[in-house]
Amino acid sequence: MPKTWWEREAIVYQVWPASFADSNNDGFGDIPGIISKLDHINSLGANTLWVSPHYASPRIDEGYDISDYKAVYPPFGTMEDTERLIRECHQRGLKIIFDLVINHTSDQHAWFKASRSSKSNPKRDWYIWRPAKYDDKGNMLPPNNWRSYFNESAWTWDEHTQEYYLHLFCKEQPDLNWTCEDARKQIYQDAIIFWLEKGINGFRVDTVNMYSKPMDFPDAEVTDSDNPYQPAHSLFCNGPEMPKYLREISAIFDKYDAMTVGELPSTPDFKQVLRYIDPNDPQLSMVFSFDHVSLDRGEGQHFYLRSWKLPELKNAIAHMQTFVRNSSPPAIAATYLENHDQPRSISRFCPAAQTPEETKRAGKMLAMFQTAMSGAQFIYQGQEIGMTNFPDTWGPHEYKDVDSLNYYNYVVAHSGDDTSKPGEVLKKINRIARDNARTPVQWSSAQPYAGFMAPSQGGEGKQLHKPWMRINDNYKDGINVEDQVHDPDSVLAFWKQAIAMRQARPALFVHGTYEPLDHENQHTFSFLKRAEDGKGTVAYIVLNFSEKQQTFTLPTELQGRKVELLMGTQQKVHLQEHRLGGYEGRIYVAS
Ligand code: GLC
Ligand code: CA
Repeated sequence: MPKTWWEREAIVYQVWPASFADSNNDGFGDIPGIISKLDHINSLGANTLWVSPHYASPRIDEGYDISDYKAVYPPFGTMEDTERLIRECHQRGLKIIFDLVINHTSDQHAWFKASRSSKSNPKRDWYIWRPAKYDDKGNMLPPNNWRSYFNESAWTWDEHTQEYYLHLFCKEQPDLNWTCEDARKQIYQDAIIFWLEKGINGFRVDTVNMYSKPMDFPDAEVTDSDNPYQPAHSLFCNGPEMPKYLREISAIFDKYDAMTVGELPSTPDFKQVLRYIDPNDPQLSMVFSFDHVSLDRGEGQHFYLRSWKLPELKNAIAHMQTFVRNSSPPAIAATYLENHDQPRSISRFCPAAQTPEETKRAGKMLAMFQTAMSGAQFIYQGQEIGMTNFPDTWGPHEYKDVDSLNYYNYVVAHSGDDTSKPGEVLKKINRIARDNARTPVQWSSAQPYAGFMAPSQGGEGKQLHKPWMRINDNYKDGINVEDQVHDPDSVLAFWKQAIAMRQARPALFVHGTYEPLDHENQHTFSFLKRAEDGKGTVAYIVLNFSEKQQTFTLPTELQGRKVELLMGTQQKVHLQEHRLGGYEGRIYVAS
């Protein structure tokens, strides 16, 4: 029997505060807004809330640049609001986890201000400073050729102290120096213990594998000759001191019975991944892997798209579901299709679904897909109503993410006289931009701005402010919470059923083993789930990822057994008819 609460049953609902619900009509989501919607989260069947960064921040990277770990970003609310959020979650039986962003701080954090004030400041060593390099002609260069995640050099020159500092993300996000013990102790105190003492139940840990860097900072191999700066993930991810740092942290978490889910980019080797979460020596409770959300991204240039086929998705999912079984007892998979860094799953995995009817079918099919998988579940705000990417006809000013904008501006600067290039590139950016996940949640078709903002205090019919990001117009086409709550055939109603179905059969759906089937099929995705209940219970899940009808055959081991249709995304289907409509999914169970 699994011991901890997160091994048993975690269904985590992620809120990205700026775009969840705005309680005071300033156009920006906030903590009282989250509290006002806790009943919605509860009614879905989620049992854990994950709140993306709510801390004080200049928000250059939307809150992942923290200027004070112990303070709340004022537009989101106060410390009292945050304490109330924790209490209100617990009163409803919801656990609550926060985001832990400790690879870097904001350049506005007091620690960095001290560090950059002089070479002799006691906090100089809390960040990573290096002198310039010079080429043969005497030109000044950064200490190495590393590229940041946001398509710039990973080093920025500081005039005042005449050295470069390292930032794997924006220049406003300087990397902390984890080799400095004083810095580590203070990080633990401010970012972790402070909040665990307030009663939260754990953290999602941002970029968890980057704290240990090669401190001699070697150049990365040149793989993109068009760019002076090179991807260097294999050098700065999973460094040798990671286990030491994470054991220090997990000793703290153990005291509070707190869970951690680490974000683990650029780690293709499953043995390396497993080392972080092996239950015999866990450094983290679980990790997010990236295979299935990297299928459409090419190597090299940022925002480069590649086309992919369904068998590749099957490989990625099979890997995510099965690598955890290489330890004994098995580790826990963290299952997700969306978060604040990814485009919407309907648009990504079922791109041909365009009409409201098609996206609705696809939304239900993907809900079945995700909830039938083992491990802990992570659902992102708006996923439960089938929100989609916004149209690729929106102009560049509708994008707010530094990642999209840096790249767009880079293209504009390098297009010369070719005026069509930026427009073309924007269409590509649209497909995978993080902005897609960040448009405000669509609560209602009857209210202005999809009910994201509180009713105006400026008098009848008068809205004083606009949402900070444009609302996707499809809130009028049924993609909103209010319409779906009243519709038993909606995506939302289906998510609720699917979660309830899963939780009612944990041996099969939470802890069962995953067996891929029919690998080469380009249209349907099918797999078995097998319960370790000694009774031989098996579920057969078959999902049509195409818009056209597809036929299927029950796997041989189910033929001749008593088979029951446990659940289908379409109503009124016939058990005997082994034909799926576009984006239809079914689960059969044999016992
Ligand atoms: C993680 C976050 C992402 C952020 C980055 C830098 O990848 O999920 O939103 O930009 O870390 O903190
Ligand atoms: Ca607000």
